[in-house]
This record gives sequence, C-alpha cells and structure tokens, in this order.
Amino acid sequence: MSKVIVVLGTFYGDEGKGRVLYHVSKNADIALRCTGGNNAGHTVFVKDKKIALHLIPSGTLRGNVIGIIGNGVVIDPVVLIKELDMLKEMGIPENNVVISGKAHIIMPYDKEMDGLLESIKDKPVGTTKRGIGPCYSDKMERTGIRVEDFISEAFIEIATKNFENKNKIFEAYNYNKMKYKDILEEYSNYAKRIKPLVKDTVNFIHNSLKNNMKVVVEGAQATLLDIDHGTYPFVTSSNPTIGGILTGSGLNTSNIGKIYGVLKAHSSRVGEGPYVTEEISKIGDEIREIAHEYGTTTGRPRRCGWLDLVALNYSIKLNGFTDLAINHMDSIGKLDKFKLCVAYKYRGEIINDFDSNIDFLNECIPVYEEFEGNFKDISNIRNKKDLPSEAIRFLNRIEEITRVKISLIGVGPNEYDVIEC
Ligand code: GDP
Ligand code: IMO
Ligand code: MG
Repeated sequence: MSKVIVVLGTFYGDEGKGRVLYHVSKNADIALRCTGGNNAGHTVFVKDKKIALHLIPSGTLRGNVIGIIGNGVVIDPVVLIKELDMLKEMGIPENNVVISGKAHIIMPYDKEMDGLLESIKDKPVGTTKRGIGPCYSDKMERTGIRVEDFISEAFIEIATKNFENKNKIFEAYNYNKMKYKDILEEYSNYAKRIKPLVKDTVNFIHNSLKNNMKVVVEGAQATLLDIDHGTYPFVTSSNPTIGGILTGSGLNTSNIGKIYGVLKAHSSRVGEGPYVTEEISKIGDEIREIAHEYGTTTGRPRRCGWLDLVALNYSIKLNGFTDLAINHMDSIGKLDKFKLCVAYKYRGEIINDFDSNIDFLNECIPVYEEFEGNFKDISNIRNKKDLPSEAIRFLNRIEEITRVKISLIGVGPNEYDVIEC
C-alpha cells in the first residue's frame, strides 16, 4: 500500500506550497486538498505560464493527476466553476476533479456575514472576506449545506430557510436583507454541473492507496493560522496542521509517509496578528518588492520579515515534518545582508519555545544571526554545493537548529528552479 506525501505551510501561509506540491506531484496519481477554501491562493508555473489556483489542488494542472476536494474543505461554487472552466481551457477534462459529498458549500450569506462580523469586531482579523469563517460556523452549528445537500432536490428548501434565518441577523445589524430567489436559481445550475464529480472520497482514496496509487496532500493556509495552535483570534477557521489533514480527508496515521514543511528564506504574513520577526522598515519594503509579496487571493501587500526558527520548531513539533522545503533562496540573496531568528528574548530571558499567546509574542524580541547577501543569479544552480557559501551556511544552520533535513530549495519561481538535496 502506498504512503501519502503531505505538503504543509509552516508559518502564516504563502510559503510556496503550490509550487512544492506541483514539484512532488511529478509521479503522483492523486492530489488532495483537505482544509480551507478559496482563502488560499497557490501559485504554480507550468512551463513559463503563471497559474493561481484557490480551490482545486495544484497537482491537477499536470493533466494526468486526479484532483480531490476532500470533506474538510469549504467550497464556493462560483470559484469552483471558474477553476473547472480554466482547466477545460487547458485541455484538462472536468472529471479529473472529484469532490467529496461531505464538503460544505460557502453560500452568499456566508460571504456577507464575513464582512459583517469583521465590521463589528474591535480588532478585525483581516480575513479574506471569502465567507470561510461563517461557513465553518454553519458546519459546527449543523446548519451548513453539504455538497450532497447542494446536489439534492432538498437544496432550495434548505437554502431558503437558511437565507431567511440569516436575514433576521442582517436586519438586526441594520444590514440590507439578501434577495435570494435569483441566487437559488443560479446555484441550482452550478449544482447540476458539479453533480457528476461528487463521490465518496474516503473510499475512493483508500481504494486508490490499496491499488498502489500515489497520493499527495496540498495543505492550505499554515500552522500559525491554525484555529487551535495559531495566534488566535488572528487565525483562519480550520486546522491546517496534520490533524486537520486526517479529519479533512479520512486518511489515518498509518497512511502518512513524508510530511514536507514549506517555508521561505524570509517570512511574510497577510492580515492582522503578532509577527515577531516582522520588519516594519525600509528592509521590509525591500523584501516585499524583491520577493513580490502581494496576496495571491486578495492582492494585499504582505507584511514581511525574517525567517523565524522558534516558530519553525513549534511547527515541527505540531506536524512532525520529515523534510523541509525552503523557497526564495534567490530573493533573500538579493539583499546586502539577511537575518535568521534563532531565539527570542522575553523580559530579559532567552526563549526557545514558541507559545501562540498573542500578548507573549508581542513582547518577544528576536535574536538574530546575520548573513552576507548580494548573490549573483542562483536560479540555474541545481546542486546545493554550488550555492554561494553564505547560502550554504544559512541552510546548514537551519538544519542544525531544527534537526530536519532540507530536501528542496527554491532558487526562483519557475517550474524547474528547484534544488533537490
Ligand atoms: P502558497 O500559498 O504557499 O502556495 O504560496 P503563494 O503562491 O501564495 O505565494 C508564493 C509566491 O512565491 C508565489 O508568487 C510563487 O511564484 C513564489 N515563489 C515560490 N517559490 C519561489 C522561489 O524559490 N523563488 C522566488 N523568487 N519565488 C518563489
Ligand atoms: P495560502 O493557502 C495567507 C489569513 C487571512 C487572515 C486570516 C483569516 O495561500 O497560504 P480567513 O479568510 O481565512 O478567515 O482569514 O488568515 N489567510 C491566509 N494568509 N495565505 C493563506 O492561504 C491564507 N488563508 C487565510 O489573511 O489574516
Ligand atoms: Mg498563497
């Protein structure tokens, strides 16, 4: 029976999971998403073409890989249809995508509610306003609409009831009530299109593994955005850590093989919340421009700073990474100097253990080691030993402190700009 390869974000998202997933899906049969929704934005270069996917797993772009949207995902049908159309234009058949009947549908009232809830918070989270939190709340309240309800005759009745109930809430906050008749007709048409793709994905995945097919899991969001382990309340509404992968797919622990933790040679965060190694300075702006740190989903400028090994070690504890994949070695090398955070100082004391408590993190001061940059173009290098000596010293230091092997090094955004170690 084959083992599943899992690719997860280690920090606050946008580490380059899409490109790592695309790389490791070379010999895969199935690419699987288990958590989140179209709050994710995963960029992949196929040959020279830049493609961003938000919902369908990036591996599907290979054409011979089945893309599964697992039960833990929340699906905006508008986005799903858009991505199915995009695949079609690329010559990838629609039935290469398989959708769990147990995944939940993001309804228009969830998107509206996302805006409303942000507007009444003292400290808004800075969500993507894609309706992710409200949809997961519906799921927990047991008023959510599953894909299997969506494609059933009962959809209009269930959705009408939900719209009416949500309208009572909108009215109470002096928000406009939603008109939903046309929406329901439009959504019923989406449901018809999606219906042939819906399967019992738990048995589909387990039977595929039994038949020795190779499955890769594409994590979305990242460890420090985890609803339990992240910097609550500045987090997303799912568990992007390894536990969420199991729950969101029906895989069990014995199915899991390699777990890649994806990171960047620098770091970034979109939205609000603590960020110990953030550079609110000219250097932060320089990193943003060099690494093109603008949101794949919302286009927002990302907050930028240095790689944080205290946070990375926490992420390793939670996920059990067998391998690390580090992107943007080329970007960081364009700076005159770059830094690596190896510990925190908290009230005069050296700290090596990350605690996601936001008051604690807001008081932590990073302890840095410094490296010389100004590398020549490294995008054509394919052997670690050919990298500039400061890059090798930086990578070795990360391995020394984390005790996890770096197996992939991104030296540029393009498909083949990767060193395998
Ligand atoms: P994801 O959400 O984790 O899949 O990451 P995103 O796609 O949102 O953001 C990662 C960004 O970094 C994308 O624009 C990628 O094209 C880019 N990228 C990934 N790896 C590298 C790398 O090694 N070098 C450079 N220069 N860009 C990279
Ligand atoms: P990928 O998969 C970066 C952030 C949002 C916000 C918080 C909550 O591309 O790495 P939500 O809309 O999920 O309720 O927003 O989480 N966020 C991400 N940041 N990358 C992502 O996904 C993210 N998904 C959510 O910016 O701070
Ligand atoms: Mg992203």
